[in-house]
Amino acid sequence: MSNKEPLLVFDTTLRDGEQVPGCQLNTVEKIQVARALETLGVDVIEAGFPVSSPGDFEAVVQIAAAVREPVVCGLTRAVLKDIDVAAAALKGARRARIHTGIGTSPYHIYSKLKSNPEAILEQAVKAVRYARNLVEEVEFYAEDAGRTDNEYLARVVEAVILAGATVINIPDTTGYCLPSEYGAKIRYLMERVPNIHQAILSTHCHNDLGMATANTLAGVLNGARQVEVTINGIGERAGNSSLEEVVMAVRTRKDFPVDTRINTRRIMETSRMVSSLMNMPVQPNKAIVGRNAFAHSSGIHQDGVLKDRENYEIIDPAEVGVDESAIVLTARSGRAALKYHLDRLGYHYYNGDLDTLYARFLEMADQQKQVTDQDLLKLTGQNEDSGTALKLKLLQVLTGVSTVPMATVHLEVDGAVRSATAEGNGAFDAAFKAVAKIIDEHFDLDEFLIQAITRGSDDVGKVHVRIHGRNRTWYGFSANTDIVTASVQALIDALNKMMIHHER
Ligand code: KIV
Ligand code: ZN
Repeated sequence: MSNKEPLLVFDTTLRDGEQVPGCQLNTVEKIQVARALETLGVDVIEAGFPVSSPGDFEAVVQIAAAVREPVVCGLTRAVLKDIDVAAAALKGARRARIHTGIGTSPYHIYSKLKSNPEAILEQAVKAVRYARNLVEEVEFYAEDAGRTDNEYLARVVEAVILAGATVINIPDTTGYCLPSEYGAKIRYLMERVPNIHQAILSTHCHNDLGMATANTLAGVLNGARQVEVTINGIGERAGNSSLEEVVMAVRTRKDFPVDTRINTRRIMETSRMVSSLMNMPVQPNKAIVGRNAFAHSSGIHQDGVLKDRENYEIIDPAEVGVDESAIVLTARSGRAALKYHLDRLGYHYYNGDLDTLYARFLEMADQQKQVTDQDLLKLTGQNEDSGTALKLKLLQVLTGVSTVPMATVHLEVDGAVRSATAEGNGAFDAAFKAVAKIIDEHFDLDEFLIQAITRGSDDVGKVHVRIHGRNRTWYGFSANTDIVTASVQALIDALNKMMIHHER
């Protein structure tokens, strides 16, 4: 980390995030997420609301035992029984924090709690004092602080700091604030609360008007030094401020005075894990972790990105754990994007070819939303039925425990079917050796890459191979629901290019 001030990341995916209907996790899944958050580098994990159910209690106990680095936090109301239960659940934590609080807005004081401001202030102080006798760290939340009068809020904050709270959470519970308003609220507390330097102010912003991240950043710019966030921004209603957006905003904007400890390269993996465990798909255009966050489809942008990524990208995708920017082929793509993909697939066109191919590509793109690798192979006449020298007629593999992996391959070579069987150290190795026996040509397999398609809804696997033969490098590609078949087809694709195109 740079010499910027530290910004603490308090992750509440397992508490506020998990309140989303249909997203509940079992304890084993919660531990999996907690461990991923620890590896990601969050400072605090809010593990649950222990008094709310035996399941939540048990999850907090297990998470407290499972992670070592982050502070483990349990939520309570400003109710002594809640605090006792939370302290019991957190007993095994290396560092435990109780997050207690009460509503401070007129809505909460009069309508929800049927109380008055002075009684609320007293209850807040009593809860903090009580919690402080049970655990080392106490955080206080002023629920609905976004709609709380600043002068009253400042009095509550001063009193709970005196009672022992060292972190003060200022939630915009209903997502009502504008960034300027939320920033001014934090500034007000920083300037008007006499003992504010004995505590850290924390943001906790909801996204009802789509401003959770903007509000969080406004809070940070005005003095908050902890942010409460969730992975993928999940949470009640429209969700919470998202961890990846806040972390990448302060990392990317060099003018921010703070930075976090987050290992950003683990962001994508953590996002996918949470999305799949919680059955909450990430919207494609979601900042940082959406499928399209680094995808370029218009010709002008594609040309710009291919010349220099920074022309159209402010974040290197690798920094958040995404392999590379995606150049998506659509009817708006230009020649630069088509050439990029043809080169990647190993199709070597000659002068004049690119214009012809581009015209045919546009016709195809007009008829479908996106042009895939397989479509390109068709376009360039390299699909299975285009007069290739080699065609796969049969593939049979035998593999498993206590078996020598073995493959039988039947290949049509210039019209005649030839077959071979080979053993290998695995199914792929055996199948590749059988193909090599048949074709009677020397080649080296330089690269073999299998990717599960995580962007689509099916379970197709994509295989890219790179071989060297006849003094050149050749690329092959295939996709199939069976990964061994896809691998052999990709190899055959590369061999066909070598055998058909090398004379051109
Ligand atoms: O949004 C909110 O006010 C909360 C508190 C319970 C911290 O989640
Ligand atoms: Zn909340």
